[in-house]
Amino acid sequence: MGIMDGKKGIVFGIANERSYAWYITQSLIQQGAECAYTHLPGAKMERRVRNAVKELGNEDPWLMSCDASSDEDLDAVFTKLGEDWGKIDFVVHSIAFADRQFLEIGNFHTTTREAWTQALDISAYTLIAMSQRAAPLMTDGGSIISMSYYGGEKVIPGYNIMGIAKSALEHTTRYLAAELGEKNIRVNSISGGPLRTLAAMAVGGISEMFDHQANKAPLKRNITGEEVGNTAAFLLSDLSSGVTGEIVYVDAGFNIVGL
Ligand SMILES: NC(=O)c1ccc[n+]([C@@H]2O[C@H](COP(=O)([O-])OP(=O)(O)OC[C@H]3O[C@@H](n4cnc5c(N)ncnc54)[C@H](O)[C@@H]3O)[C@@H](O)[C@H]2O)c1
Repeated sequence: MGIMDGKKGIVFGIANERSYAWYITQSLIQQGAECAYTHLPGAKMERRVRNAVKELGNEDPWLMSCDASSDEDLDAVFTKLGEDWGKIDFVVHSIAFADRQFLEIGNFHTTTREAWTQALDISAYTLIAMSQRAAPLMTDGGSIISMSYYGGEKVIPGYNIMGIAKSALEHTTRYLAAELGEKNIRVNSISGGPLRTLAAMAVGGISEMFDHQANKAPLKRNITGEEVGNTAAFLLSDLSSGVTGEIVYVDAGFNIVGL
C-alpha cells in the first residue's frame, strides 16, 4: 500500500539521475503512482530521459518531446495524455532555465531584456501554461507542484535572474491555488536546498551555497534528493488534502536562520 496508489500524472524536468524530478519520480513510483514524462527536443535528450527512467524500473515509459516554452508542444502533450489516460491526478513542474552568462556573481545588473523574458517564461510562466492544460484532465481534483529556491526571497549572489523567476513562480503558485481550489486542484511549491544537478552547476557561487547551508542550517547539513522526493509525494497525495498555495521548505531548516 502506497500513498499514491491508483494515481497518475506527468513529470516535467528529468534530465538525468541527479535531477530533482528524478528523485520525485522515485518516491512517486515507490508510493504506487504511474508517471508520464517529457524530454527536451532531440534524440540525445530522449535517450537521457529514457535511461534515467529505466533506472527507476520503467522500461516502456509514456514519453513525449516538449519544449515548455512552446504552447504547441504543451498542447500536444496534454492532448495526447488526455487521449491515452482520460484523466490525471498530478503534475510535477521541475524545470527552470536562464542564460548562464547572467548567473555570475556581480552581473545581475547586466541582465538583458531577452534573458529576463526567457528566464521568467520558462521558469515561471510555464507553471500557468501547464496548469491551464492539466485542469480539464483533473476531473477528480488534483495536485500540482513546482520547485523553488530561497534565492527567490533573499539575495543569493550568483542566483540573479533565477531569483526573480523563483519569486514569480512562488506567487504564481498562490494565485493558481486561489483560482483552482474550487475544482479541488491544489497547487504548492517546494523550496528545496541546493542539490548537485545540471541546473545547479550553472549558478555562479554554487559551492559556497553548499558550504554555507551545511554550516548554518539547523540540521547542519545539505539535504538529499530523497528528502525532496518524499515531500513531493506527500504534497501530491491525499495526505496533504488540506494544503494549497504553500511554499514548503525542504532545506534542513536553513530559511529560519537569521545569523
Ligand atoms: N538543484 C538545486 O540546487 C535546486 C534547488 C532548488 C530548486 N531547484 C529547482 O529544481 C528544478 C529542477 O532543477 P534541477 O536542479 O533538478 O536541475 P536539472 O538540470 O536536473 O533539471 C532542470 C530541468 O529543466 C528542464 N528544462 C529547461 N528548459 C526547459 C524547457 N524549455 N522545456 C522543458 N524543460 C526544460 C531541463 O530539461 C531539465 O530537465 C528547477 O526548477 C530548479 O530551479 C533546484
